[in-house]
Amino acid sequence: MDTADGRRPESIAAQALGWIDEATRAITPPLHVSTTYIRDPDNQYRSGRVYARADNPAFDQAEAVIARLEGGAQAALFASGMAAATAVFQALAPGDHVLAPKVMYWSLRNWLMNFATHWGLQVELIDMTDPAVVAAALRPGKTRLVWIETPANPLWTITDIAATTALARRAGARVAVDSTVASPVLTRPIEHGADFVMHAATKYLNGHSDLIGGVLVTRADDDAWKRIKTIRAQLGATLGSFEAWLLLRGLRTLYLRVRAASQSAQRIAEHFAHHEHIEAVLYPGLADASGHAIAARQMAGGFGGMLSIRVKGGEAAAVATAAHVALWKRATSLGGVESLVEHRASVEGAGTPAPADLLRLSVGIEDCDDLIEDLEQALSLGRR
Ligand SMILES: Cc1ncc(COP(=O)(O)O)c(C=O)c1O
Repeated sequence: MDTADGRRPESIAAQALGWIDEATRAITPPLHVSTTYIRDPDNQYRSGRVYARADNPAFDQAEAVIARLEGGAQAALFASGMAAATAVFQALAPGDHVLAPKVMYWSLRNWLMNFATHWGLQVELIDMTDPAVVAAALRPGKTRLVWIETPANPLWTITDIAATTALARRAGARVAVDSTVASPVLTRPIEHGADFVMHAATKYLNGHSDLIGGVLVTRADDDAWKRIKTIRAQLGATLGSFEAWLLLRGLRTLYLRVRAASQSAQRIAEHFAHHEHIEAVLYPGLADASGHAIAARQMAGGFGGMLSIRVKGGEAAAVATAAHVALWKRATSLGGVESLVEHRASVEGAGTPAPADLLRLSVGIEDCDDLIEDLEQALSLGRR
């Protein structure tokens, strides 16, 4: 069934591994909505399927495609990126020590500090971009997980996955990478040593701002992975059948979308880097960005579609600029075909690392000159 052997990732994604539906010979898979499966007269379940909270044929193809694109042993779809991420932490035991970055997706940081700590995890937030800090924070035999996000929301800081993984391994800790922003198009964390890769499939993997979903990929089908799969089944953090179907459709164009967004983001970053109304552009593709050298090693073919601009004039000027965009959409989220702008400090509230003058930009696939012109006019009007 699988015609993808030896093919490049673009071909694997476009044809979703080349699978066809054996029952109908359809190229596009059917939508499986059944929640339950027939038991054989002798009381066995020979299909291997029992109940759709544990697994669902609607997941099979998308999970197989994502596992292949990431170079992992298996993948598991979840009801959201948060459901996928929190499953990794819930697979640990109370008392375990975990390291996570100070700069990371804010909602997961909040969950770690407000829920996971009450549940018994010892969560330590550190500067994950500095291997010396990581080395000092690791407690051999006690630290069970190191969580990386690279590039990291909303400053797009870069963590060296290979260097961090080498340190973690020596201390007996696993490494999970939130690779939502890079996507497998630009970075394959398992090749750099990571144990788990996590994506908010809501973002680039689906790419059309029309589903909430998450996915984990594992290097090995080991005990930790089995615990994660059990958590998905028992807590019911399962994706819907239609969302899984939509996700597979979105995946087919992943490479085109991410490359287009990355190219435009690079151009936009360079255009505004020395602009009269801009204090700073945060983007790992800029040669003077702090993580640029690592990003150039770790990311292949671009630096992603996410960047932030710091607007001269502080919070008022940033909010006024966002108020005047016409083509960019003022909205949260990222990784869709449409470009979004967001005043990030307003969303994250107290404790955010986002400066008050920062606008987060998710670059879509529109014409790049249109995007630049629209930001130019918004920056001018925002100053009046
Ligand atoms: C980097 C990153 N990780 C995780 C998440 C959580 O994903 P979801 O909203 O699907 O729960 C997001 C969502 O914004 C994100 O941007």
